[in-house]
Amino acid sequence: LAKKNTYQQELVALYRINVFLSSIADLAKLLHLIMEEAAATVRAEASSIALYDSRRKELYFAVALGKKGAKVKEIRIKLGKGILGYAAKSRKPLNIKDVRRDKRFSTSIDKKTGFTSRAILAVPIVHQKKLIGALEVINKKGAASFSAADVRLLEIIASQAAIAIENAQLYEKLLKKHRALQKKHKQFIAAQEKMLTMERLSTIGDMASRIIHDLRNPLSVIRGYAYLQGEDTISDKERKEFSTIIMDEVDRLTGMTNELLEFARGKVNLLFKDQSFGDFIKGVCNYLRRDFEGNKIKLTSDLAYEGPICMDKFKMQRAIFNLTSNAKDAMPQGGTFQIATALRGNQVELTFSDTGCGIPEQIKDKIFEPFVSHGKSHGTGLGMPIVKKIIESHGGSVSIESQPRREGSFSTVITVYLPLKQPEERSS
Ligand SMILES: Nc1ncnc2c1ncn2[C@@H]1O[C@H](COP(=O)(O)OP(=O)(O)O)[C@@H](O)[C@H]1O
Ligand SMILES: [Mg+2]
Repeated sequence: LAKKNTYQQELVALYRINVFLSSIADLAKLLHLIMEEAAATVRAEASSIALYDSRRKELYFAVALGKKGAKVKEIRIKLGKGILGYAAKSRKPLNIKDVRRDKRFSTSIDKKTGFTSRAILAVPIVHQKKLIGALEVINKKGAASFSAADVRLLEIIASQAAIAIENAQLYEKLLKKHRALQKKHKQFIAAQEKMLTMERLSTIGDMASRIIHDLRNPLSVIRGYAYLQGEDTISDKERKEFSTIIMDEVDRLTGMTNELLEFARGKVNLLFKDQSFGDFIKGVCNYLRRDFEGNKIKLTSDLAYEGPICMDKFKMQRAIFNLTSNAKDAMPQGGTFQIATALRGNQVELTFSDTGCGIPEQIKDKIFEPFVSHGKSHGTGLGMPIVKKIIESHGGSVSIESQPRREGSFSTVITVYLPLKQPEERSS
């Protein structure tokens, strides 16, 4: 009967492998579980487990100090020292009936824990010939010492514990590697972001140097004529002429800085308002007529639609002035500029035509890209991208047809479609 009982107990102990295996994700918890399992199986008062540090040839274990075990301290013992160290070194179980009569017993741990050891049973924990640690149970409940059956049971537990600990340590190692990789990944992402920032900064740097270069031309012209105006030898007529040149150059500078600002702002914030398209376009024409006068450009208009429209008047003005300033640049000897409006379904069609030099073939496809400028010393290359942005944020579109100058016909025709109403309006 006793034999059958032992066999059953052994089976139960083996069954515990599942309990251990489910705890491999937390080594501390696993060790605690093994200790509890060992003490319960052989009915011991206490138990402890130590892991082997092969580098330092030491066993180390966490002991709970004090009555409630509130303080946990790591204790290290040399391989071969003490009962646990002896079992580990010899890789054999060591069953001591009374430790006080055994010279291998060291009282130091008892002193630290306040526990009095009498009988100790220690077994090594070995996995595939590798020493992993040692397990000991202290003081058998209801008996003076541990039996041969207890030795056998503890060995079974130790063998299960070996596999579980090995797995848990492996898991910990993997987790550490995983964390290290994660950290590296984060560092990599940070480095990448830094690079992007640098790239952005260098783009801004490029922009700045280009802009400064572009602003220098009109500034040097202004400086020159301002100097001449200060001379006593010039006539009144010349003085007036120089004053006009200076004002023109300042206007040009203002136009350039406006384009730059508009572009730098990035997103266009539109202020939609219902208005008369006729009034708007007539106002624009009046301004342009005066503006074109000095450039020998004739303005003609064909306004077939003068009804209501919802749009941002000032942004639309900006877009149109960008187009007319390009037309002026394209007609240095003068020419004709035409504005036409017509209703096409629920959109107004706006065409701007000029008799200028035509858009150079090499930039035709990228005229809406920023910084694309050709054939002028003061170009920012931002005029057309701004036009496109303003028109498109109105839900409209812009297209260009251009050919080299030909007598009696327009060379560049820019067509803009603008919806009469904006989405919020359309739905309500
Ligand atoms: N009406 C036009 N006639 C001829 N060329 C034009 C016309 N509009 C634009 N372009 C060409 O497109 C280029 C880009 O125009 P834009 O974006 O306004 O930049 P910028 O005027 O500062 O050069 C101009 O430099 C010019 O070569
Ligand atoms: Mg321009």
